[in-house]
Amino acid sequence: MNAEDRHYLACAIDAARAAGALHLYYRGQDLEVTAKGHPTDLVTRVDREAERAIRDRIRAQFPQHAVLGEEGGQDRESRFRWIVDPLDGTTNYAHGFPFSCVSVALEIDGTRRVGVIFDPQHDELFTAVRGGGAWMNGRPLQVSAQRELSGHAMLATGFPPDAGNDPHYLAVFAEFLRRGVSVRRPGSAALGLSYVACGRLDGFWDYRLKAWDLAAGLLILEEAGGRHSGLGGAASEYGRPVIASNGWLHDALLEVIR
Ligand code: IPD
Ligand code: CA
Ligand code: CA
Ligand code: CA
Repeated sequence: MNAEDRHYLACAIDAARAAGALHLYYRGQDLEVTAKGHPTDLVTRVDREAERAIRDRIRAQFPQHAVLGEEGGQDRESRFRWIVDPLDGTTNYAHGFPFSCVSVALEIDGTRRVGVIFDPQHDELFTAVRGGGAWMNGRPLQVSAQRELSGHAMLATGFPPDAGNDPHYLAVFAEFLRRGVSVRRPGSAALGLSYVACGRLDGFWDYRLKAWDLAAGLLILEEAGGRHSGLGGAASEYGRPVIASNGWLHDALLEVIR
């Protein structure tokens, strides 16, 4: 890893750990939970404070870089863009269900270069730098070798807020169940992608995830040997359906999720 990448990675880890410390600190306290629009789309003081902590750290190290965060938007234009989800899995967090994380990524000229996902409640730090492999707490990550969907694979997905009104979404879900696939809906897209990267899951799909849900997780998955795409196998795009897998199961997933 070159010195620049090492600097970016260190900054991303420092920012993610600072945000994670806030997740832990506020557990069990008044979270000031409000709904953003849809009643299940929650935001808490921790989302806001964690984003502030991350922005402060990035700005201190790289004042010219742009930062895009879920809660504060994008501050400027730059070739260097940090993409931040200060708390992925807010609904879980607000309920005390311990499955949430911080996600910090750096894109340079639109290419993902660094990805860090930190789950403070399990003290698991997933990291990747393009070309340098993916790691969890210092151990190299590899996707699963699972090649059978029915009866063997475990997948995860996420429901967009209006999923109940989306017959396509529910039909896809039902089709996996019909085929005897174990499907989980754990509630954090970034951790879902990390879990595919480390082989705990064999695949993941969701429909309208944003840059901050995806950026770090997609790089970590790629660097762990996994594959991701849009529907029909085209390149993944923020805001569009994303299918992620260990590679072996990718075409089988695409066949169901059309
Ligand atoms: C949400 C989670 C969830 C996914 C939602 C996201 P947030 O992010 O990743 O798993 O299904 O679409 O919005 O709001 O908790 O950061
Ligand atoms: Ca949110
Ligand atoms: Ca998110
Ligand atoms: Ca969030």
